[in-house]
Amino acid sequence: MIPRIGWIGCGTHAGEMLLPQLVRLPVRLVALADVNAERLALIGDRYGVARRYADGLAMIESMATSGELDAIGMAVGPKQHSELAAAALRRGLPVFIEKPPAATSAEAQVLADLARAAGKPCVVGFMKRYSTANRIAGNITRGAGFGPRASLLGEYMTAPTYFVGNADYTGFLLHHCVHAMDLVPWLLKEDVVSTQARSFEIAPGKLLLHVGFGFASGALATVVMGTHQSRGTPMEWWQVMGDQQRVEVRNVHEVRHFRNPPFKAADPAATLDAAVDTLVWEPNFTAAANEDHKGYHGLLAAFGRAVRGEANDAPDIADGVKAMRVLEAVVRSMGSGTAERV
Ligand SMILES: NC(=O)c1ccc[n+]([C@@H]2O[C@H](COP(=O)([O-])OP(=O)(O)OC[C@H]3O[C@@H](n4cnc5c(N)ncnc54)[C@H](O)[C@@H]3O)[C@@H](O)[C@H]2O)c1
Repeated sequence: MIPRIGWIGCGTHAGEMLLPQLVRLPVRLVALADVNAERLALIGDRYGVARRYADGLAMIESMATSGELDAIGMAVGPKQHSELAAAALRRGLPVFIEKPPAATSAEAQVLADLARAAGKPCVVGFMKRYSTANRIAGNITRGAGFGPRASLLGEYMTAPTYFVGNADYTGFLLHHCVHAMDLVPWLLKEDVVSTQARSFEIAPGKLLLHVGFGFASGALATVVMGTHQSRGTPMEWWQVMGDQQRVEVRNVHEVRHFRNPPFKAADPAATLDAAVDTLVWEPNFTAAANEDHKGYHGLLAAFGRAVRGEANDAPDIADGVKAMRVLEAVVRSMGSGTAERV
């Protein structure tokens, strides 16, 4: 089955990241919707899609009822994700929604309930799970020999661009930090049970957050997020520690797996031992080959499998609810200054 997809939201992210990956997959992009006529025309012409709607709901109402769609995808914004995904699920259509899945965890829970009632997938855009480097790290940390995943350190920054002049950090938390709320438990393979946030507003629009995450196993995680670094520099770094092992991912493309080698200094025959020395993976950026450093292709491929009813590991709306609950605990902790249960 080649699913017929209707896509809502022809903005920057869909145009630059998602649709170029979606059309590489065995799917047919049969309709587009955007309230912005210019964007709709640009993207519609780019992909030769004739069915165009001036609003996402109009597309769902018209095409879902006539049975012309097998699934809906969208990259719009939190409020529209929850409203439009609900409309699609109520009509029995599988859905892909970008993050954040909704503006609140309660609204995300409504989607989770609708998806369960409809028996249809509602996939959420947590693509960091599919970044090749993050997947390598995830597979190492879950592998035999890594030992208990005891701790995670991370840094995930952005720039003041959107916040200077309007120091409301809702967008930073919802659109940026929410990725960490999913990736941290995914890398540690354990749900977050508590958070403790410390924040420092360096200047209006320039916020620094140090967030501690607690886990039932006793594992510890600390992630630094902020709006005061340049988007022209690498912004993302993760490290997971096991038992005399740790794995590090820099800027979604450089993986280092440190293990337990002996000292080399006193060994005249010292060499690099494949069993214990540090392993490094970096992609060959000059290869004319498929690359998925950010993970959009892998994520949308998993969505395609979910639509076809095949086995898949796509992050779903239940993961979206969890991430939103962790995010809300972070926000409460920013206000209370104390640890908050998720
Ligand atoms: N996962 C990622 O890496 C990533 C990166 C960037 C953005 N995003 C997410 O993608 C979403 C969109 O971000 P963006 O930067 O593309 O924003 P954008 O504003 O460029 O695009 C949103 C588009 O949706 C359209 N729209 C609004 N209401 C609509 C409606 N009712 N029906 C149809 N179209 C409607 C707008 O006109 C606009 O063209 C956000 O939720 C954002 O967090 C995710």
